[in-house]
Amino acid sequence: MLFTPFTFPNGKTAKNRIFKSAMEDQLAQNDQPSEKLVRLYGTWAEVDAGVLVTGNVMVAESGKGSINDVVISDDRSLEMLKKWAKAGTQNDTLLIMQINHAGKQSPAMVNKTPLAPSAVPLVGMDGFINPPRELTADEINGLI
Ligand SMILES: Cc1cc2nc3c(=O)[nH]c(=O)nc-3n(C[C@H](O)[C@H](O)[C@H](O)COP(=O)(O)O)c2cc1C
Repeated sequence: MLFTPFTFPNGKTAKNRIFKSAMEDQLAQNDQPSEKLVRLYGTWAEVDAGVLVTGNVMVAESGKGSINDVVISDDRSLEMLKKWAKAGTQNDTLLIMQINHAGKQSPAMVNKTPLAPSAVPLVGMDGFINPPRELTADEINGLI
């Protein structure tokens, strides 16, 4: 079973059922994809994973969930993204990028005031995660 293909409802087929789940990589360099990420995903593809889901990749600086998250908010990372995609899709591996915004879970060390849909703070996170400020409708549209 593990080594039989699986076709997703969107028509994409994974060559086997070895699925690497999203696990925050924390391997960005200055918020950008790094050679370490290229090597890591290239290695997983080489050893025959069927599906690789990246750790969360943030859509804005305000959405970082840790200090070394990749942030893609413009096209400056395009060359490294292509390299990362090429490495992670070799050997017929499916590569899925998980995009994310940490919202109120953005820790104080990366974000003094997290931005979230509501200003309701997380409980029990004093000192680690600060209370959020409510996003405006324009800011939400910007993130989308
Ligand atoms: C170190 C670590 C980092 C993780 N990072 C992410 C992440 O970036 N995005 C996400 O959706 N889930 C993340 N997860 C959750 C894993 O994807 C989840 O544990 C996995 O899907 C297994 O699910 P299970 O724990 O219910 O079996 C992370 C888990 C671990 C252990």
